[in-house]
Amino acid sequence: MATPTLDKVESEATASHNITVTFRIRRFNPEVSDQAEWQDFQIEIDPKERVLDGLHKIKWDLDGTLTFRRSCAHGICGSDAMRINGKNRLACKTLIKDINPEKPITVEAIKGLTVMKDLVVDMEPFFQAYRDVMPFLVTKGNEPTRERLQSAEDRERFDDTTKCILCAACTSSCPVFWNDGQYFGPAAIVNAHRFIFDSRDEAGEQRLEILNDKDGVWRCRTTFNCTDACPRGIEVTKAIQEVKRALITRRF
Ligand code: SF4
Ligand code: F3S
Ligand code: FES
Repeated sequence: MATPTLDKVESEATASHNITVTFRIRRFNPEVSDQAEWQDFQIEIDPKERVLDGLHKIKWDLDGTLTFRRSCAHGICGSDAMRINGKNRLACKTLIKDINPEKPITVEAIKGLTVMKDLVVDMEPFFQAYRDVMPFLVTKGNEPTRERLQSAEDRERFDDTTKCILCAACTSSCPVFWNDGQYFGPAAIVNAHRFIFDSRDEAGEQRLEILNDKDGVWRCRTTFNCTDACPRGIEVTKAIQEVKRALITRRF
């Protein structure tokens, strides 16, 4: 009797766990219509796979025009934030079994940014706010001959906000940002926090003045959507509160 190949054994093992899942995707193609509409796709997939795997199956096997961003597929690059069942998540970090696959899984673009096609939004306003807070170390004087020293306690002060991957899940879940898109948004404040509370940085005052703007931190209404949405578990609202406090006390 012929010995089954490893590939065959693996594919049979995988196939046996597949279930039928409906993806309900909000499609938009400005070259075809100025209206977005929902489209259903049925696929066979192992519920232990991720929403990103389902989108790939649809794109590769059913409709090559489906458009979405992704790169690393492991929660690092931040490119595949989308609204899945009405909540901002990374498609590559969302297991199908965790979002009730017995009902259609809705997938749509994140809110508050202009949709360019299907699940792809124009990220430019988001990155402009990020650039505006000067997300880099600013120091004066001569460069040290070796590294810039920092105590473990001082490093800990901004550890949480170093984890940001700029996915925009927070900013695009914030009702204040939805309102007019003028608010800097939680992601920009998180990235300002990362440098304001860095003991080696010397531009904290400057960043605080930028965030003291009418579209800065004071527009946050402590809704916590941003904290709930962050796939990196960053305490976004807490970071915003710390920046507000620093603005009042000028101590950081
Ligand atoms: Fe994404 Fe969290 Fe950074 Fe916001 S704070 S951009 S949700 S990683
Ligand atoms: Fe918006 Fe987060 Fe503040 S959702 S209102 S930035 S707490
Ligand atoms: Fe990179 Fe999901 S594809 S974070």
